[in-house]
Amino acid sequence: MLILGIETSCDETAAGVVEDGVRVVSNVVASQAHLHAPYGGVVPELASREHEVNLVPVVRAAAEPSGGLRRVDALAVTVGPGLQGSLLVGMTFAKAAAYAADLPLYGVNHLEAHLAALRLTAEPPEPPFVALLATGGHTALYDVASWGDYRLLGDTRDDAVGEAFDKVARLLGLPYPGGPPLERAASEGEDTFGFPRPMWKRGLSFSFAGLKTAVALKVKELGEAEAARVRADLAASFQEAALEVLAAKALAACEQRGRGRLVLVGGVAANARLRELAARGDAAVYAPPPELCGDNGAMVAAAGFLAAERGELLDAAADPAPSLALG
Ligand code: KG4
Ligand code: ZN
Repeated sequence: MLILGIETSCDETAAGVVEDGVRVVSNVVASQAHLHAPYGGVVPELASREHEVNLVPVVRAAAEPSGGLRRVDALAVTVGPGLQGSLLVGMTFAKAAAYAADLPLYGVNHLEAHLAALRLTAEPPEPPFVALLATGGHTALYDVASWGDYRLLGDTRDDAVGEAFDKVARLLGLPYPGGPPLERAASEGEDTFGFPRPMWKRGLSFSFAGLKTAVALKVKELGEAEAARVRADLAASFQEAALEVLAAKALAACEQRGRGRLVLVGGVAANARLRELAARGDAAVYAPPPELCGDNGAMVAAAGFLAAERGELLDAAADPAPSLALG
C-alpha cells in the first residue's frame, strides 16, 4: 500500500510516499527557512503564501517515482497542530487532490507523525517505550504503550526547546533556524557559564523561557564585543543546560514507567549532543536519522498508514486543528 503524505503545518512544504507504512519511496522537502530568516522566526502569512507556491511542484516530485498521484493508494495530510493558514493550504489541496484522483484521504496529527518517523528507520523500536518529542513548537514526554496509545507525561510550561535554540541563536548572531548553527558553535566551546538547569529534579515538566533570559542577560552584561569573542562558550553553556534537562527528564520518565527504551523525535532530536547525553542512562536510545527528525512528508505518510489502520478518513468538511494534542 502506497500512501502519499502532505505536510504544511509550519515552514516546510513537504510530501513523501511510503510503502506499507515503513519504506520510504520518496521524501521531498521545500524549506522556507530563507524566507523567515530575516525575521528570526516563522511569519504565518508568508508561510501560507509560500506553501501555495511550493505545494504543487513538491507533491508532483514526491509522486513521480511511483508513477504519479493516481498510482498511490491513499493520501494523508497533517491536520494539526500548527499554523492555521498553513494547515488550511495543505488540507484544501489534499481534499481536492483526493477528490480528483478518487483516493481515500487520512487526517494526521503532526506529533504522531514525528513519532511515526521512527517506523521508517532500519531497525525501528517497538513499543512500549518513552518518547521525547522536541521540536520548535513542542517539548513533551509520552509513554507509548503501543502505536496509537499515547499518554502525555509532561510538557513545557512556556517555550519549546527548539524555540529556545532559535531565540538564543539569534541573540548570539547565528542564522535561523538556530538549532544546527548553535550546535556547531557549541561543539567548539565549553560549558563555562553554568547556566541554571530549568526545573531540574522537578517532575516531568519543562521550562525554557528562564534559560533564554539568563543567556540574554549574560550577553548584555558581557557587551557585544566580548559576547562575540566567547560565542562558542555561550552556545555550549546554553546547549548543555537545555539538553541535560531534556535527557535527565526523559531518562527519569523511562524509570518511572519501567520502560527500557527511549526514543528521541522531532527537529531537536537531530542534535548529536542530545543523543549522547540520553545514551548515558540505562535505556536503549533510538532516534530517526536527521532528515527524518525535522518536518517531512514521509513521516506524515507513515502516520497516515496508522490512521488508515484505524479507519480515520478525513471528513470533507474538516477544519484545521491548530492546537491538536496527542494523548
Ligand atoms: O520538528 P521541526 O522540524 O519543526 C517543528 O515541528 O517545530 O523542529 C524544528 C526545530 C527548530 O526550532 C530548530 O532550531 C530545531 O528544531 N533544531 C535543532 C537542531 N536541528 C533542528 N535544535 C537543536 N539542535 C539541532 N541540531
Ligand atoms: Zn514538526
